Amino acid sequence: MPSTTTPPSSSATQRSHFDAAAAQWDQRPMSQQLAAVPAYFLEHLPWSAHEEVLDFGAGTGLLAAALAPRVAQMTALDSSSAMLQVLQDKNVPNLRLQVGDAVASGLPGRYHAIVSCMALHHVADIGTLLRVFADALHPGGRVALVDLYAEDGSFHGDNAAKGVQHLGFDPQALQALAEQAGLQDIAFTDILRVQRGNDRSYPLFLMTGYKP
Ligand SMILES: C[S@@+](CC[C@H](N)C(=O)[O-])C[C@H]1O[C@@H](n2cnc3c(N)ncnc32)[C@H](O)[C@@H]1O
Repeated sequence: MPSTTTPPSSSATQRSHFDAAAAQWDQRPMSQQLAAVPAYFLEHLPWSAHEEVLDFGAGTGLLAAALAPRVAQMTALDSSSAMLQVLQDKNVPNLRLQVGDAVASGLPGRYHAIVSCMALHHVADIGTLLRVFADALHPGGRVALVDLYAEDGSFHGDNAAKGVQHLGFDPQALQALAEQAGLQDIAFTDILRVQRGNDRSYPLFLMTGYKP
């Protein structure tokens, strides 16, 4: 089993939602659309065989499994042990699994890069999360974070049951929080548009930034 720290701040509702969803997570049409995210990361962002990288809210390993072969050590952190169990069953080499809540307990090491896909909107206190990221980065380390631009609440539909804390993000507000956390050179890229139902699509951003 993945090593465990007590995860008190991610809500019990949210953890039971992800625990229940874990077995079918990779079969969701959304996961299949999001496969474009690791493909983009591998093609457009720099990776080095000397770097330690953490995937925040790694889930079943969309990013972590793709990046693990390209870096020295990949850590997949998630507050849902069931999500990480699915990832563990994939037997990805070079991957450390950690059950825990980044906001409540901090991160388990120091990293050259912290990545994340679709996890930020599940965290109430984004300012604290970004400070946790900045504290855990080596000088010169970077973040690459993918999430929803501000949306009208229709993306998840049942937001409360899924532990949704933000209906996407306004880039300027997120940039201000990142700068207050000590990150700089914050930039946003439109990385992907995901489809829900027949008639709705939602744009996702990639936010990058560096710790001086
Ligand atoms: C929407 S899923 C995304 C999973 C994966 N990154 C993907 O794109 O398929 C969000 C994940 O973030 C995790 N999560 C939410 N809040 C967390 C926290 N405070 N600490 C650690 N993991 C958290 C959830 O358990 C869940 O697995």
